[in-house]
Amino acid sequence: MPIEITPLTPHIGARLSGIDVRQPLTAAEVEAIDSGMNRHAVLVLPGQDISDEQQLAFTRNFGPLEEGANSTVRNSELRLDPAFADVSNLDKDGRRLERDNKRRMAALGNRLWHSDASFRVVPAKYSILSGRIVTTAGGNTEFADMRAAYDALDAATKAEIEDLACEHSLIYSRGQLGFTEFLPDERVAMKPVRHRLVRTHPTSGRKSLFLSSHIGTIVGWPQPEAMAFIRDLMEHATQPEFVYSHQWTQHDLVIWDNRATMHRVRRYDDLNVVRDLRRTTTRGEGPTAEQETA
Ligand SMILES: [Fe+2]
Repeated sequence: MPIEITPLTPHIGARLSGIDVRQPLTAAEVEAIDSGMNRHAVLVLPGQDISDEQQLAFTRNFGPLEEGANSTVRNSELRLDPAFADVSNLDKDGRRLERDNKRRMAALGNRLWHSDASFRVVPAKYSILSGRIVTTAGGNTEFADMRAAYDALDAATKAEIEDLACEHSLIYSRGQLGFTEFLPDERVAMKPVRHRLVRTHPTSGRKSLFLSSHIGTIVGWPQPEAMAFIRDLMEHATQPEFVYSHQWTQHDLVIWDNRATMHRVRRYDDLNVVRDLRRTTTRGEGPTAEQETA
């Protein structure tokens, strides 16, 4: 079957058909996905009814796995293999999380625009999300193109932000929703890391805004001024023309490049319906900025 890539919007997102993710990929198939990602930043592969093992094998084609993606969940509470981020509303026994459940509270942070693992020194490259049980009302995942957003800035703003660095931490993003219940060892693990605000994609060569709700300040700026400016940039970068909204069909496999996009999940009735999506993630090439020595 020939590989076909069909754009979903003018800037971001395309549908890819002609690859069966359950089979080992050929070099040509890996190349087709990588070049599609370079161009569209988000690829949707419909009809991929895969197991966890098949998802892991597929993911390894695109770089080293990011371990410990469930940053705020203890290992004894995990429902899935620790290589997966559990994007569901289920506990380890398959029951829906209660309204005041701590994991549910933390997961509500995914409703804010972010780039996966931007709170790590080496942030994420690809996120690969498999729709095992999807919702029919709500629960869309939205993606915003940070390359198109950068390109659309005026020259003065581009010059002003070129060398800025931001501090990212889960404490900042969760804190925006008023979630501040972190254990002392979690606070140590969530120590802010620095990233460039403008990054250059290692393969496409395109510049993009490295924005995320994990940002808590701009290095060297007063915090209120920094956060007001970050809000302006977020508003600019998430205008409808830069956004693709994905409505899930069961067995969709969606891949996005965290080096060129932000994403968020939309609200759904998680107390009454089940949504089971499973994410694997590959690590990026390295830090985007020098870290302060502790
Ligand atoms: Fe995410």
